[in-house]
Amino acid sequence: MKTWREFARELADEVGNDNWRTELEAVPRHVFVPAFHVQRPDGTWDETTSHDEGWMDAVYRDRPLITELATTPEGHRVTVSSSTKPGLMVRMLDALDLADGQRVLEIGTGTGYNAALLAHRLGSEQVFSVDIGATLIDAARERLAGLGLTPALAAAHGAEGWARHAPFDRIIATCSVPEVPWAWAEQVRENGLVLVDLKPSVHAGNLVLLTRHADRLEGRFLHRWAGFMAIRDTDGPPGNVTTIDPVEGVRSVTRLEPLPWASLVPWFLTQATMPGEVAFGHRGNAAMFSTADGSWAAVSQEPDAEGEREVRQGGPVRIWDEFEAAQRTWDELGRPDWDRLGLTVTPDGRHRVWLDEPGGGIGWTLS
Ligand SMILES: C[S@@+](CC[C@H](N)C(=O)[O-])C[C@H]1O[C@@H](n2cnc3c(N)ncnc32)[C@H](O)[C@@H]1O
Repeated sequence: MKTWREFARELADEVGNDNWRTELEAVPRHVFVPAFHVQRPDGTWDETTSHDEGWMDAVYRDRPLITELATTPEGHRVTVSSSTKPGLMVRMLDALDLADGQRVLEIGTGTGYNAALLAHRLGSEQVFSVDIGATLIDAARERLAGLGLTPALAAAHGAEGWARHAPFDRIIATCSVPEVPWAWAEQVRENGLVLVDLKPSVHAGNLVLLTRHADRLEGRFLHRWAGFMAIRDTDGPPGNVTTIDPVEGVRSVTRLEPLPWASLVPWFLTQATMPGEVAFGHRGNAAMFSTADGSWAAVSQEPDAEGEREVRQGGPVRIWDEFEAAQRTWDELGRPDWDRLGLTVTPDGRHRVWLDEPGGGIGWTLS
């Protein structure tokens, strides 16, 4: 029988990141993922536990695993926690450019696996981690302690950081945020780093690595796109996003994909013109977008013989027209990828996205 150490070595081989090989080989991921859930095509969920065949194999693959579901008041089971894909996690840890003696705050403890990697590298007393899920924190604390690791953990809303233990040298968030909380800037040392997945709407954003300057957080998006589950405001299933039933609306046609994240950068830049988070759902054959101010767009999933899809829109902001405009601007700019985009966040909450250089003249204001 293969031992967990052999499994862990294979995981480290699969990830192929030599900077974090020692930690990947030393931290038993199976301890942090005693069970995981996989969604069946019909939408129901299958649970695999330590008693099931294939559990160890799955846990030591370079894959994300859904570890916690919650039930909405409408009876839908939704994901509330997961163990991030190890390869992505170490890519983020690499980006943090850690040095001995540094203090790190993690937002989104989840299973505790990432906190374990950090505690193994830096020492438990340097690592702080919060999660909104109280039972997640209890379970993570027990698993970590079982391995002799004792980072400070708390059940708390991560948007507030953890002022009592500030200042930190690094803050890493493993849930996405619609905007970067200024509290994090206040709790990170000057020249310290904040790494977070900024996503004002579904799939609209990416990981960004920000440096703390005296008057701002500023930095670039990571080249490769990644998506984390969105930050929750309560220890329960994520709140219901209001969606709108399409009425007649204004009709047009589009040649673009009905899912704007087929074109991730323009979809992100579109957020500068949105009146808040864009909710997404399906209505019959249409992809449906809506915002809290009553704006909506319904885009047919099926193109006609000419490759055109029907669009209907209503409300104060024409969501699809704005996306098409952002797509045109992006085309004209030579289709810059994430690595040419950066972000400046100021204490007034302003989020300015820029092309190439902060003062370069081309930018978008998110909020
Ligand atoms: C992708 S999981 C984190 C994975 C984790 N780092 C690990 O190693 O297993 C995202 C986590 O963010 C947490 N989260 C969501 N909203 C939060 C909030 N407001 N404050 C802190 N954590 C939050 C979720 O409960 C979930 O556990």
